[in-house]
Amino acid sequence: MSAFHREKVLSVQHWTDTLFSFKATRDTSFRFQNGQFAMIGLEVEGKPLLRAYSMASANHEEELEFFSIKVPDGPLTSRLQKIKEGDTILVARKAVGTLVTDSLLPGKRLLMLSTGTGLAPFASLIKDPDVYERYEHVVLVHGCRQVSELAYGERLVERLQNDELFGELMKDKFTYYPTVTREPFRNRGRITDLIESGQIFKDMGQGPLDIETDRIMLCGSPAMLEDLKNMFEERDFIEGSGNKPGHFVIEKAFVER
Ligand code: A2P
Repeated sequence: MSAFHREKVLSVQHWTDTLFSFKATRDTSFRFQNGQFAMIGLEVEGKPLLRAYSMASANHEEELEFFSIKVPDGPLTSRLQKIKEGDTILVARKAVGTLVTDSLLPGKRLLMLSTGTGLAPFASLIKDPDVYERYEHVVLVHGCRQVSELAYGERLVERLQNDELFGELMKDKFTYYPTVTREPFRNRGRITDLIESGQIFKDMGQGPLDIETDRIMLCGSPAMLEDLKNMFEERDFIEGSGNKPGHFVIEKAFVER
């Protein structure tokens, strides 16, 4: 048995010069937890060329969705950005990853902190009804350089908030906080600085960071992850894992450099 499923591309949407998303068929035997990733890619010269991609779709959805960067000389993304409806992609049979609610201690507020394509696993998690059962507040923070890079997240949040089921679940619980660093926007600055100064909590009209009640998931660039991890550890937050739940969990956004 092959380690991959061959899936058909159903649609592709280009968001900016550097960002696109696509949907593909999902084999009925492919199971995953919301927030996890799988190795996906293309067959190139008869060989699989794969990278880790978080599922942006939720596990209750029939189709798979992925949100990707385009790197001009990236071995995979230079090719993947050209895919079209009807093309074949490879999806590994096994999904893995640390951004799962079972790796966190019980809490009241879930902070999902992302930069760039690090949004992808949270696109899946905010479509998980269980997340809204577990937490009193669910906060999605997305930091980007430019306003245009927020579009995928903005559309998704808008769609969910207008959805009959999710609109109701999210109404009093969910806060979306997009922030931009390199041009004017209603929220400005790096996530690290916004947390350090407490500005983000003021803007949201919520209480400050609190180890008793806050649980955190991080996904973004290596520099952002390192800075946030240090910041939380200085405040005594402990990193969690599958066999030892903690206050926060981390996943790299798997960017090709
Ligand atoms: P900045 O514009 O100040 O570099 P990138 O595209 O480089 O992955 O960055 C995505 C977003 O993450 C940008 O808004 C960027 O801000 C921000 N960022 C980069 N490094 C860090 C860091 N160490 N901590 C917090 N945010 C960061």
